[in-house]
Amino acid sequence: MTDSYAMPRDAAETGRLRLQAEIMGPHSAHLFKLAGIGPGMRVLDVGCGTGDVSMVLADLVGPTGSVLGVDVDPGVLEVARERAREAGLTNVSYLEADLGELRPAEPVDALAGRLILMHLPDAARTVRELSRQVRPGGVVSFQDYNVSRCRSVPSTPLLARSMRWVIDAMRASGIEPDMGERIVPTLAEAGLDMQGVAAVEPAGTADSLVPEFLAATARSLLPLALAHGVVTEDEVVVDGMAGRVADELRAVRATVWTAELVGAWARVPRLAGPGLAGGGPGRSVSDPWPIGSVSSGGTVPGRRRSS
Ligand SMILES: C[S@@+](CC[C@H](N)C(=O)[O-])C[C@H]1O[C@@H](n2cnc3c(N)ncnc32)[C@H](O)[C@@H]1O
Repeated sequence: MTDSYAMPRDAAETGRLRLQAEIMGPHSAHLFKLAGIGPGMRVLDVGCGTGDVSMVLADLVGPTGSVLGVDVDPGVLEVARERAREAGLTNVSYLEADLGELRPAEPVDALAGRLILMHLPDAARTVRELSRQVRPGGVVSFQDYNVSRCRSVPSTPLLARSMRWVIDAMRASGIEPDMGERIVPTLAEAGLDMQGVAAVEPAGTADSLVPEFLAATARSLLPLALAHGVVTEDEVVVDGMAGRVADELRAVRATVWTAELVGAWARVPRLAGPGLAGGGPGRSVSDPWPIGSVSSGGTVPGRRRSS
């Protein structure tokens, strides 16, 4: 796989990822816990960036488990390693590699990733290939945004306008802004046994980190928006944007609902045929997909089978 990542790789983007971590971290932990990631597991975190998800996972698996974070970008891995050292984490390590060339030594118990599928040209194929690194019966769980859900209530003009061009710039650059809606079909197409899906929507006011995060996102996407002719230089001023967004929110006492974060989880089939290793889904001995979709982090139990 060639590196198709369209976002910038610079200090400002690293700062944006750190803000995102602060806002999304506890929610990601909740969704990965629902997925069944827990103590003692060996987990692969693909597209780990500055290590936020790896650190969340390291906490979930505890001292008897381990996490290997993988990213193609040596710059973000340097930050990730430093953060793990600062946090005194001994159960997380990092590897520089393209996801298409990943060959871990032994199968892991779980494959995880956040905000990576939206960047991949053929997400189902990549997930199918990466799932071969997971033991039969192991967990595959991905989280991604539905960016178009981001809004303030009441609506405020700068935020609404900015989100429109941000979404257009993502699409024009080959990034799927509403990948959250597509995780379930992607995991199913990868030949996995679906287990569940849930979503959270962190929210904040003018005085939360949210205006700063939105402005940082706009800053990171502006070069792409300009390159694709989505906006002109005269139409967008990112300097001071966080303050202006916050002023508009404060004036009408608005709440901002950030992008919805969807987590979906599946199991690698316990194969009775050629299955994943042979390139197809294989025959599963586990239950059919028993769980429906719901917002706010709950799961909806599947229908009980009558005996
Ligand atoms: C939006 S960041 C998400 C980082 C992290 N998962 C998080 O949620 O904070 C996506 C990361 O995936 C990495 N990435 C994209 N394509 C990749 C590939 N083909 N192989 C390895 N890493 C890749 C990028 O370098 C980037 O650090």
